[in-house]
Amino acid sequence: MPTTPRPVKTVLASVTAAVLLAAAAATPAHAQSPPLRDLADQQGLRMGAAVASHLLDDADYRRTAATEFNSVTHENDLKWESVQPQPGQYSWSGADRLVEFAEQNGQQIHGHTLVWHSQLPSWVENGSFTPAELTQVMEDHIDTTMGRYRGQIQTWDVVNEPIGDDAQFRNSVFHRVLGEDFIAQSLHMARAADPEATLFINDYNIDGINAKSDAYYELAQDLLAQGAPLDGIGLQGHLISGQLPQDIQQNIQRFADLGLEVMITELDIRMTMPVTQQKLEQQARDYTQVMDACLAVSGCSGVTVWGVTDAHSWVPDHFTGEGAALPIDDDYEAKPAYWSIHEALGGDGQNGPDDPGPGEPGTGTCEVAYDFTSQWGQGAVVEVTVHNGSGSAVQDWSLTWERPSGEQISSAWNSLIQQSGTTVTAGPVEWNRSIAPGGQVSFGFQTTHAGAPSVPGGFSLGSESCTIR
Ligand code: G3I
Repeated sequence: MPTTPRPVKTVLASVTAAVLLAAAAATPAHAQSPPLRDLADQQGLRMGAAVASHLLDDADYRRTAATEFNSVTHENDLKWESVQPQPGQYSWSGADRLVEFAEQNGQQIHGHTLVWHSQLPSWVENGSFTPAELTQVMEDHIDTTMGRYRGQIQTWDVVNEPIGDDAQFRNSVFHRVLGEDFIAQSLHMARAADPEATLFINDYNIDGINAKSDAYYELAQDLLAQGAPLDGIGLQGHLISGQLPQDIQQNIQRFADLGLEVMITELDIRMTMPVTQQKLEQQARDYTQVMDACLAVSGCSGVTVWGVTDAHSWVPDHFTGEGAALPIDDDYEAKPAYWSIHEALGGDGQNGPDDPGPGEPGTGTCEVAYDFTSQWGQGAVVEVTVHNGSGSAVQDWSLTWERPSGEQISSAWNSLIQQSGTTVTAGPVEWNRSIAPGGQVSFGFQTTHAGAPSVPGGFSLGSESCTIR
């Protein structure tokens, strides 16, 4: 098991040149090692993370969320209190932002969540409803929310946590007013709102076989027997390091045998603080166990970790003295757990000195077109198009090349360009920070030349060499 997490944060250089604008990302040279999402794609698996849209302002967070994961779940932005805080007053800004981000980065979205007793606005939680009124309220919420993202969100936690740890239906407004039928009703409403979506129920402490997961097993059988449109079950996977149930795979298998899709929807494996190397290695073994359990069952379609890094995890706020539950640490460094997921997905699981860590640009082919759109005496206008031929998005791209002798860039658009010696570094502006898989960005600049402008060489996107086309 590798033991040395390596730094992966982008380093920002200071800007000096007056006409050349801003800082460019420096990317350490490294050999190619695929990020988790590329390995997961090869396995046909969703490898997701819970993402908070307001944190997308942070470049490291955004790049890591885009580079490492092929699926995202809204951590809080799609919950009832966020989406419909007052009756009929919907608020979409946070939810929309992550949907747009996922689309830019070729990611699937797991919709979390529609009918849940928690993070429910007071007007629902404490409302006095007749069954007909509450049915209407639920239908409006489900239809409006799923309808907005029809075709964009593929899977939904339609009902979240309807059963308590005592294996009985939880005392919620939904259960009080409608009885246990609220689950089947919610599923029917969801099917009507988006017939293409895959519909889940989702809960914690049902990862192994126990009284609560037995209750879900019975519930799933009942729902299927009565024709309710249940497609999947989410095992949240909020686990304690060194204390994992040993029968996670059998539990996944029994739900898969009912014909249900199974996902590990909110995985984190917490430890008591402070972190030690021994605890990190135990945690890495725990992550291997969960990954292997999912990969061993064909009906298990994905694993989502609940947060991008330890710095964004709900765990320290809710469990005093516990934390470090995720595979990437507070400083965006890969933990042993990251590499155990990497290995479980078929990667080399190595963090040797030349391997990239989370959030660094992925593998793939980069092509550059370098065109003179006009030229005169001792000047020219150049348009550069960078094509990302890899299977994953490149965030906060950095294109470098060697400037031909006698040429000096004097102004630029759609890129921030810095020159240092003969090396030119072009980076993004606000509106083109991400190059989607198979996508491209273009930018331009004006340059001087000594009489005949020439196409430079040595183009690299991050650490990856580019070919000229
Ligand atoms: O938005 C307010 C902010 O205005 C206020 O200043 C701040 C002060 O505490 O609180 C903010 O709200 C917090 C919210 O997250 C948004 O950050 C709540 O206090 C906090 O309790 C809430 O926690 C969320 C928790 O669900 C609530 O149940 C966690 O972020 C979120 O990770 C967690 O996710 C749940 C899943 O949805 C369902 N399964 C369990 C999982 C972990 O609890």
